[in-house]
Amino acid sequence: MNSAQVAPAFVIRRGTPADAASLAEFGARTFRETFAADNTVEDMAKHLASAWSPALQDAELRDPRLDTLLAVAPPVNGHSGALAGFAQLRAGHAPACVPTRKPIELKRFYVDRPWQGRGLARALMAEVERVARLHDACELWLGVWERNERAQAFYRKCGFDKVGTQIFVVGDDPQTDHVMLRNL
Ligand SMILES: CC(C)(COP(=O)(O)OP(=O)(O)OC[C@H]1O[C@@H](n2cnc3c(N)ncnc32)[C@H](O)[C@@H]1OP(=O)(O)O)[C@@H](O)C(=O)NCCC(=O)NCCS
Repeated sequence: MNSAQVAPAFVIRRGTPADAASLAEFGARTFRETFAADNTVEDMAKHLASAWSPALQDAELRDPRLDTLLAVAPPVNGHSGALAGFAQLRAGHAPACVPTRKPIELKRFYVDRPWQGRGLARALMAEVERVARLHDACELWLGVWERNERAQAFYRKCGFDKVGTQIFVVGDDPQTDHVMLRNL
């Protein structure tokens, strides 16, 4: 994949196993910042431990079913740039409410708080769509918590519509996600 320039400071590139530790830190921090206020401490701790660690992200970055796209600041003085966002696509799984022509899942989509509302999410989504088409996917689908209204508004702006619901368990709490879909 060619790196895609984002206005003008960021590059979107594929993640590699060398990114595992920074991706684990970024994912856990962003999840906590977004959802801690609406979940118990116990459920958050259990979920974070099950989803984010350098070993888990290392395995994901090596998994051929996953595409992980990172939005990173340019390197400074030889140090690699800080993560500002990331997206993960997962082939080969869809709930019953998603038509099975050839869907691909947008499994994760996070932008760091200082970069929200500034166009980075749009640029990352454009790259997600480009990579989804490389898989010959016909539809892009995702699950988003019913209470995450900002994300739902963003996805609607990107052309997604709600087609159903699914359960996503955070810790011991079974939560309802909206399943949203757009054609590619
Ligand atoms: C979801 C996310 C990627 C969207 O990126 P973003 O840069 O924040 O998106 P935008 O600002 O372009 O769009 C969000 C829209 O929601 C609106 N919005 C903000 N807060 C809102 C709220 N509480 N309820 C409804 N709409 C809201 C914004 O006004 C904006 O609409 P506008 O452009 O018409 O003004 C980003 O917010 C994020 O990473 N959040 C934390 C992690 C997360 O929730 N990921 C999604 C998991 S499914």
